[in-house]
Amino acid sequence: MRPIRKAVLPVAGLGTRFLPATKAVPKELLPIIDTPILSYAIEEATQAGITEFIFVIARGKEGIAKQVGHNPDLMRTLNADGKGDLAAVVEASTIPEGRASFIYQDKPMGLGHAIWCARHAVGDEPFAVLLPDDVILSPQSALADLLAAHEAVGGNIAAVIDVAKQDTSKYGILAVEGEEGRMVRASDLVEKPAPEKAPSNVAIIGRYVLEPGIFSALSDTKAGSGDEIQLTDAMRRRIADAPFHGVRIDGTRFDCGTKNGLLEATVAFALAREDTAGTMQRILSSYGQHSAWSRVG
Ligand code: UTP
Repeated sequence: MRPIRKAVLPVAGLGTRFLPATKAVPKELLPIIDTPILSYAIEEATQAGITEFIFVIARGKEGIAKQVGHNPDLMRTLNADGKGDLAAVVEASTIPEGRASFIYQDKPMGLGHAIWCARHAVGDEPFAVLLPDDVILSPQSALADLLAAHEAVGGNIAAVIDVAKQDTSKYGILAVEGEEGRMVRASDLVEKPAPEKAPSNVAIIGRYVLEPGIFSALSDTKAGSGDEIQLTDAMRRRIADAPFHGVRIDGTRFDCGTKNGLLEATVAFALAREDTAGTMQRILSSYGQHSAWSRVG
């Protein structure tokens, strides 16, 4: 089996939960400390061996192309000012020339539709999908674990986490057929079930390895929950023809598509970074004692 080199990053969503910030700035470029949330996904993909990045964007979100592309003027200025260390940081967040492509999703018709928009860029081969607003803090690339699982068992794969029963209605949920180590085999998938209808608490998060057969399933999938074309519905249709496995991630996932998730990720990443850990510890102990004062808004 040829190694998987292509990843699709759907970044065309409206990001309404972060308005007014996302009126001009794409949600995926909001930072955790000094690094856009998108950069964490690119780094995770690069560590897993991904070399071709296919972004599904919307009009008005062209800042994403600017962020991942070269900026020779900035590099010249930084180097001329003796800021080679900063230039190196900028370079590391840049995708090499000719390795990033951008496809427009004309209307935000859901994640499934966004992935379907990338069908010609992907072609007839398995590929990875990363939703950048799921940021994973882990010792090694979570996507690399999914690619290893795909090599072992094939079919469609998603990263999963165990969620509290009352939260199943926020996720695609697996009907679990069997488990081995961190791998969970699914007999069925249900999109956003109410807790009393959820077949398990094993929930899909934003990392996938998909077989190209998903594109015809997406073509045949009608708008479902939220009037959007759901990826979960298409993966479900494929279960009879291709096995579906979840891989429990070895790390912590933050839903940076929500305010609470981005806030928590900021604290966790600040504590994990040498240059910010001390400051964050001081902030936490100081505000921990004064939680009731000076509320804004
Ligand atoms: P979300 O479900 O978080 O939706 O998308 P959203 O529209 O971005 O945010 P809110 O709900 O309005 O705040 C998950 C991922 O799928 C992409 C988003 O850009 C994000 O990376 N997406 C979603 C698309 O590319 N197209 C869509 O039609 C919907």
